[in-house]
Amino acid sequence: MVKATVEQLCKQHTELTDKDIKILQELAFSLQTYADLSGDYMFIDCKLKPHNQAIVVAEAFPIGCKPLYDNSVIGKIVFESFEPGVFYSYRNGKKSIIRHAVTQEGIVVDQTVVPIKNTCHQVIGVLIQEKEISSSFSDQPLQKFSVITETAEDQLTNSGLGVVSDLLMEMLILTDASNRLVYANPSGLKLISELSNHDDVLNRNLLEMLPFLLPVYEQKEDVFVFEMTIERKSLIVKKIKMRDKNKSQETLLIVQDITELRTKEKELMMKSVVIKEIHHRVKNNLQTVASLLRLQMRNGVTAESRAAFEETLNRIYSISSVYEIILAKEHADDDDVNIINLTRKICSTMVLNEYNLKVDLIIEPNGNKIITTSKKAVSIALIINELIQNSLKHAFRGREQGIIDVEFTVVNDFVELHVSDNGVGMKDPQTSLGTEIIHNLVINDLNGEFLYVPRDIGTHALIIFPIGAEVEIFGE
Ligand SMILES: Nc1ncnc2c1ncn2[C@@H]1O[C@H](COP(=O)(O)OP(=O)(O)OP(=O)(O)O)[C@@H](O)[C@H]1O
Ligand SMILES: [Mg+2]
Repeated sequence: MVKATVEQLCKQHTELTDKDIKILQELAFSLQTYADLSGDYMFIDCKLKPHNQAIVVAEAFPIGCKPLYDNSVIGKIVFESFEPGVFYSYRNGKKSIIRHAVTQEGIVVDQTVVPIKNTCHQVIGVLIQEKEISSSFSDQPLQKFSVITETAEDQLTNSGLGVVSDLLMEMLILTDASNRLVYANPSGLKLISELSNHDDVLNRNLLEMLPFLLPVYEQKEDVFVFEMTIERKSLIVKKIKMRDKNKSQETLLIVQDITELRTKEKELMMKSVVIKEIHHRVKNNLQTVASLLRLQMRNGVTAESRAAFEETLNRIYSISSVYEIILAKEHADDDDVNIINLTRKICSTMVLNEYNLKVDLIIEPNGNKIITTSKKAVSIALIINELIQNSLKHAFRGREQGIIDVEFTVVNDFVELHVSDNGVGMKDPQTSLGTEIIHNLVINDLNGEFLYVPRDIGTHALIIFPIGAEVEIFGE
């Protein structure tokens, strides 16, 4: 039962691989034991595809205790602004402890969150332990809100909450069961007056004054977060449905003005447009250099120089492949490169254009999606280019066909790149520029190792380099 739920939720809502989901399932099976042992409530949350939200995929509460929340929270969406500990652990891969945290459901708990990592040290979920501190948040502070409905702000000021809410940048707006405004802190009042053109707003129907809030109120969930743009203002509206002692429903809105943040984001977008333009220019310049070389070749060169020209062209093409991959992405503002796609691109240009030899080029990613920064990608592109060129140039002398195999494996925290062929094998190799390029790039740029693996047929080159912040692995 647990297994099906974790698997279904993860497959439907997250980008986790089958291997990662298995790790979470195993943990979910033991969740009840952890809950019984600690006497605390346990949950597993995973990040959703849009990365500022998470989803609860498993829960367990100690035997003999009532559930912490009225209904099961499995499948519930978790927002960062309500549960920062969850997102802190996700982002930093570290433990987070929050005392007296008020959860999204309005319950006060001591919350400890630890990241759940896979074998590549990626955070695939978080394990949450919650110890309840008070029975219900809504029994306490909310009574104070319900007093405000009678005598509005004075009472709130007496309670001490007014001082706090006066200081808040966020706008607090509380409406009763008929959507009449019963309380707003100063910044809330200012927002309503500004957008509705009314000064006297208390006890008036909020939705008549601000009809754009209708979808917020129509949303059935008890807790929900909306982002809306109204009259050039970008607002995040958090809606919390609350019940007072008489079971009548009030709605609390916490509104945050994020106009400035969005303006900054737009500026960043502009910057990313500039970066994209630079990538374009680098690519175009490389293509111009390649065209000049081709022109020079057409003017007649000796067979020996022709080979050197072709090698240089291939080196230039392999670098420009990196920029082509970056530019082909939907969001070309980051410079991450998928190494498998890059390998495919390099191989197709090289074999199809430059050699008449019939070669089967096999690329085996083994289910690995390897993403690196453009700097590392340029090094990897040049290395792959040199190794494949060597096979094409030396391995199949006097033959009409051959096989070149480019394989990626992940072993512990390292990527292994194998380039092998079924050619004549290495005989008294005289190292030249190609080997030097590979050595330099592997050692200085990739912090890795380069070696030839002895074999009976052909040649097998192996490059090993570590996974890290600039080399990430995702299962496919
Ligand atoms: N796949 C291979 N099969 C057979 N021999 C190889 C293979 N790869 C390399 N060699 C041998 O190793 C030598 C060194 O390779 P290296 O790439 O350094 O130089 P190169 O290919 O001759 O010239 P360049 O500097 O243009 O790359 C080659 O000359 C060749 O004899
Ligand atoms: Mg070479």
